[in-house]
Amino acid sequence: MPSILQLPRKVVGYLLLDNSYDRYYPLQFWDRKYRLGYSLDIPREAGRYQAVISLVRQYAQGGIILDAGCGDGLLEQKGRSLGLSFVGIDYSSAAIASARQRSLRNCEFVCADARSFFSNQRFSAIVFNESLYYIEGCVGFLRAMAPLLDPGGVFIISMYDTRITRRIWNSLQCKFFLVSEVKLKNGVSWTIRVLRPPLLCGDPSRHIEFACARKAFPP
Ligand SMILES: C[S@@+](CC[C@H](N)C(=O)[O-])C[C@H]1O[C@@H](n2cnc3c(N)ncnc32)[C@H](O)[C@@H]1O
Repeated sequence: MPSILQLPRKVVGYLLLDNSYDRYYPLQFWDRKYRLGYSLDIPREAGRYQAVISLVRQYAQGGIILDAGCGDGLLEQKGRSLGLSFVGIDYSSAAIASARQRSLRNCEFVCADARSFFSNQRFSAIVFNESLYYIEGCVGFLRAMAPLLDPGGVFIISMYDTRITRRIWNSLQCKFFLVSEVKLKNGVSWTIRVLRPPLLCGDPSRHIEFACARKAFPP
């Protein structure tokens, strides 16, 4: 019965209110899924991983990459032949256990909630491959993550296209520069964007508020 009672909230949330999928997919959901062997290593998803890896390769330029919400480390596996260096974080201990089983060179996997993650390391790219939309308050969250980027570092974000993700992209468009965009379809439509946070004098600790950068984003 609770699911029937929740239905109207879900519909209104999807159509109008929700700015993330946070409330529908808690940590317990992911832990259970990964314990049951959840994997996106399927032919339908191969093109998307390829597109993300190409952008990572282009923009990380040999630096260290943070894969936030790395799941079972599939992106790292796909990038292995390119010699990319990753730190993967995920708050699901089951996902991190699977990622560590891959025993990948140049990769470190840490069980951590991205919302409270801190590191003294700096990253040339922070990737959210189908993970940003599980976090409420994306603008504040990405602003808080931005000091972890090297000067000139970028966020690389993939999300499939829904009304909720359109609201997320809209909220980000005034706050971050759009550097690059890839669109693809694999049964559903995906948008992958490379975003750069605003910097003042290249100093990541001195972020300035943007005048709306709407022009930089496609409608
Ligand atoms: C759809 S899966 C994608 C996994 C991985 N990026 C991939 O492409 O295979 C979403 C992942 O985001 C993780 N996640 C969601 N919210 C998180 C948070 N606050 N901190 C860390 N990981 C999170 C989940 O545990 C899950 O592994």
